[in-house]
Amino acid sequence: MKKILILFAHPAYQKSRINKKLIHGVSEIENVTFHDLYERYPELDIDVKFEQNLLLEHDVIIFQHPFFWYSTPAILKEWQDLVLEHGWAYGRNGLALKGKVFFNAITTGGKKEAYSSDGFHGCTVRQLLLPIEKTAKLCRMQYLPPFVVHGTHAIDPQQTQIYNSLYIEILEKIRDDKMDLQAAQELQYLNDYPLKKENDNE
Ligand SMILES: Cc1cc2nc3c(=O)[nH]c(=O)nc-3n(C[C@H](O)[C@H](O)[C@H](O)COP(=O)(O)O)c2cc1C
Repeated sequence: MKKILILFAHPAYQKSRINKKLIHGVSEIENVTFHDLYERYPELDIDVKFEQNLLLEHDVIIFQHPFFWYSTPAILKEWQDLVLEHGWAYGRNGLALKGKVFFNAITTGGKKEAYSSDGFHGCTVRQLLLPIEKTAKLCRMQYLPPFVVHGTHAIDPQQTQIYNSLYIEILEKIRDDKMDLQAAQELQYLNDYPLKKENDNE
């Protein structure tokens, strides 16, 4: 069984509609650690050693956050700048994260069709995440496409519940080593990974 670490970042959690619903029940899943960065570090004074040890204890690392200015909330940038040290996370002897799985779990105000080459934003979410993909790969991690909830302003509670269930199913699939990571890497969205039922004889 893989151990999953969710690094959660929402600077205005009290105002959150979608992330709040998306994480429902997640911290109770076996082998999942839910770590709220803004709650732990309201002044952004990140404890680098603590974060590095947490990473070492897990096999799958997830950045979960709302999409802000085509990127992450600020604390996740600060976290990358401080925690991913040369000689530890990258560089010739920086092998601490080698082989771990990484992906983003994102909510966006923009609709799915707006994130395409001929849509409003002119490119995909996966393309916009390229700096994070390159960072993960520099740290020798296995990068997977993002899990995305689009069009957050227009989502009703029932749809949110469906996304919550899908997210949990995907987390359990990765945790139980039942995801073909190479096949998953080719997708635009982790949401699209085919999920079979338990009795489908995987
Ligand atoms: C500062 C800020 C920047 C944002 N930037 C983007 C953006 O670049 N693209 C986008 O689709 N939505 C953007 N949004 C909308 C948020 O992604 C959306 O409100 C959020 O995902 C909803 O999740 P929540 O209910 O958990 O807050 C932005 C919102 C804020 C407040």
